[in-house]
Amino acid sequence: MTIKFKTRITDLLGIEHPVLCGGMMHLSDAKYVAAVANAGAMGFISALTFPDPKQLKDEIQKCRDLAGNKTFGVNLYISPRDDANSRLDNLLSVVRDENVAVVETAGGNPGFIVPLMKEAGIKVIHKVPAVRFALSAERAGVDAIILVGAECGGHPGYMMVGSMVQGAEGPQKLSTPVILGGGIGHGSQLTAALTMGCEGVLMGTRMLISEEIWAHRDYKQRIVEGTGLDSVVVQTTVKNHHRVLHNETSEAVLELERQGIKDYESFSHLLSGSLAYKAYVSGDTDQGLLDYGQSACFANEIAPVQQIISQFMDEALCAANRIPTLLR
Ligand SMILES: Cc1cc2nc3c(=O)[nH]c(=O)nc-3n(C[C@H](O)[C@H](O)[C@H](O)COP(=O)(O)O)c2cc1C
Repeated sequence: MTIKFKTRITDLLGIEHPVLCGGMMHLSDAKYVAAVANAGAMGFISALTFPDPKQLKDEIQKCRDLAGNKTFGVNLYISPRDDANSRLDNLLSVVRDENVAVVETAGGNPGFIVPLMKEAGIKVIHKVPAVRFALSAERAGVDAIILVGAECGGHPGYMMVGSMVQGAEGPQKLSTPVILGGGIGHGSQLTAALTMGCEGVLMGTRMLISEEIWAHRDYKQRIVEGTGLDSVVVQTTVKNHHRVLHNETSEAVLELERQGIKDYESFSHLLSGSLAYKAYVSGDTDQGLLDYGQSACFANEIAPVQQIISQFMDEALCAANRIPTLLR
């Protein structure tokens, strides 16, 4: 009999392993998310990648066809500016009509989304970069919190608190189940997170080299060759910290910041998400702000999702088996 972990998150979501794979703009589509679900973990289709409601609906249906009865979710970005959230309404309607099991929300406060989702029986997991924001999400009634530390690919928040601190602090201060993300890529970190009181972990960067991610092989090869030390945090001068691959574009942003330039117009040509999309298509990783975290050090081989998750769980069990040997 293979031993499996059972936590409040495996129970809440009805998944085999306490492992979530966060939504990734342009990349987490039906094929990838279904592969994650079929490997016993849970992934999220990035709604903003399919901004036309019809497209999102099709992608959810495709994922359902590929994942059978396995649970998967949709990632929704909430802008901190209320006036910028108008297109969310249509996407929320699709999520409700399609009876998606879970949403991963990130960005602004999820307060207005929670009652809408609860009414439809959809669970809300809100992702934040510090416990302080988790407390207000908890008050809003979310079902679980993802805490991401400063190591993460994407947006670590301006406070830059590391995952080791967040993983111990979160469960002390929150009654809602905590999932730890940021720099996670080796199964022993799952065991560490569980022993700190977390109920699961979340990965992003580690999964970029999955066979099922559609991006160009040269892009994945660059990540395989990367060490994670080649990630940099840009836009700190405007408190919009963004951890990305160190390349020509991120270096150009850093240079403008070193010069003390702050107006958005000087940066806009470098910040465009279409540059990242082009890099995924062409495999040319010199251009674009490419979300990329320190856990790239664990992404050493392009492999199917099933293999990555299964290896991750073996590592977690190996670490768990070590614990009794340390006790006297
Ligand atoms: C390429 C890439 C794209 C991402 N896009 C999104 C996104 O659109 N929405 C979101 O909430 N998080 C996004 N993230 C963050 C991940 O969902 C996750 O929180 C993060 O990668 C976890 O940290 P890790 O990279 O250290 O594993 C992205 C991350 C990566 C690596």
